[in-house]
Amino acid sequence: MSLRLYIRTGIDGIDSMLEGQGIPRGYVVLILGSPGCGKTTLGIQFLYNGVVKFGENGILVLLEEDPEIVKSNMLRFGWDLEELENEKKIAIIDASPIRFITKNVKLGEEIIGSKEFQLISLIERIKKESERINAKRLVIDSLSTFILQYPREVERREAILNLIRGIAPLNCTTLLVSELRYSSTERKYQIEEYVAQGVIVLQRLLRVGGIVHILTIEKMRGVNHDIQPRPFKITQNGIVVFPSEVVF
Ligand SMILES: Nc1ncnc2c1ncn2[C@@H]1O[C@H](COP(=O)(O)OP(=O)(O)OP(=O)(O)O)[C@@H](O)[C@H]1O
Ligand SMILES: [Mg+2]
Repeated sequence: MSLRLYIRTGIDGIDSMLEGQGIPRGYVVLILGSPGCGKTTLGIQFLYNGVVKFGENGILVLLEEDPEIVKSNMLRFGWDLEELENEKKIAIIDASPIRFITKNVKLGEEIIGSKEFQLISLIERIKKESERINAKRLVIDSLSTFILQYPREVERREAILNLIRGIAPLNCTTLLVSELRYSSTERKYQIEEYVAQGVIVLQRLLRVGGIVHILTIEKMRGVNHDIQPRPFKITQNGIVVFPSEVVF
């Protein structure tokens, strides 16, 4: 059986903004958003839908949050990650300890820096889990503290590229979550945006009627996607996007 060329997020509003087809299979898409805007929810909804709607297994890499807390928060949306873990449909990697390796490490005869070692170990763990559960989807949440270790832009770009190169052979369609560091519309682009094949931005806007959440597909190479910002809500069923509504 040949795999579909596109992979639907299962969030109807987003898929319809992507020509009704979704994300080209194998892409690395950056999910950029302000704090508390729903990045983690979006990522996990993508994985959950993968399993329950499309029969595709997925990996969740948590670099910042405690898996137990994330699992219990996601139960509020009715998503039982633990059950899917037990059924080997979802694998959760608690990668926060990796960040605390601060000393250089000896790999065979070679001494490598702690940052390089962190990256290699992370990629190795993802690879192992991907083989174990035959994953088609991957979410890494979040890149923010990982890339803060690289204050110089050249190194930062190199580290993100190395991560992407490392996970590329797994052929998983990947969402890389990262914090939006500049929130005005005149914002400076972040290095991650140039490196990813797609970028989806989640933001909060103050309007006369109150706060609105907006989702913008900033780029998706090779897809004639909607370029307008569209409102979205975080509901008891997760994220719901309104693809025909306009934000003024
Ligand atoms: N059960 C729920 N029903 C509706 N909205 C919820 C529910 N649970 C959380 N929310 C909303 O979702 C927001 C958090 O979403 P999420 O954790 O996905 O955001 P995030 O962008 O990952 O945040 P952070 O920047 O802290 O990582 C909360 O601030 C709250 O507004
Ligand atoms: Mg989060």
